[in-house]
Amino acid sequence: MADSEAAAPMRLVIFGPPGVGKGTQATRLVERLGVCHLSTGDALRDAIRAGGANAADLKACLDAGQLVPDELVASIIVDRLDQPDCRRGYILDGFPRTIGQAETLENLTRALGSALSAAVFIDAPDEVLIERIAGRRICPECGRSYHMSFAPPASPGKCDADGAALEQRGDDEPGAVRERLRVYGERTAPLLGFYRSREILVEIDGVADVDAIERQIAELLEAHAR
Ligand code: AP5
Repeated sequence: MADSEAAAPMRLVIFGPPGVGKGTQATRLVERLGVCHLSTGDALRDAIRAGGANAADLKACLDAGQLVPDELVASIIVDRLDQPDCRRGYILDGFPRTIGQAETLENLTRALGSALSAAVFIDAPDEVLIERIAGRRICPECGRSYHMSFAPPASPGKCDADGAALEQRGDDEPGAVRERLRVYGERTAPLLGFYRSREILVEIDGVADVDAIERQIAELLEAHAR
């Protein structure tokens, strides 16, 4: 990317089915672009860990593979996008997830005078998603994510950063995964048409390895920006 283009703040949405690698790629994009990473999944898991008044309801909702109400996640995003650190750009990971959330975001970016640069859609067949989710392990202390085969920790079962014992996410159990895939098809897949109609859709083949997908995203974002 040319220097003049790199200076323009990148405001991205990254979406796709559960386990396709949104968080993995968002983390790499954040490092490369120096923008904020806003993950509604992480924000909700933080809220559950903090144990507030609605923590038990949130945990039940996530563990069942259901979406939390639009207003609740929208409030997380509305509060953040207006903060000074987001003015240098951001990646929304896991939001929007419904057409209603996409419309809320569109109204918000319009009000802020800062339209989205692109909506990055990563896709892969269900068998790939299921294999990635089944092998995922998370550090309960720092939230770092691993995969037992594709991104293992240096010491089996322990976080490289803090040595905590790695865990499986509550919603990575097979029944919840089936429900997340169903909900994705019904509520989130329609975003493909929404962002295609806005002419900001960037489509990524999520079957390759992490480095190849990262390169693909960088190339297509650059082509889209031209
Ligand atoms: P969220 O945390 O956003 O879950 P998700 O969308 O289901 O996505 P995942 O986190 O499971 O996967 P990912 O695509 O980020 O993949 P990852 O990079 O980890 O949301 C959780 C829940 O919160 C929702 O179900 C809902 O209840 C609620 N929620 C969140 N946002 C909401 C909203 N806006 N509205 C309503 N409710 C909301 O990769 C997966 C694994 O694969 C990892 O182990 C990784 O190491 C590995 N991997 C990644 N890429 C590759 C690769 N290319 N090759 C091999 N392995 C790979």
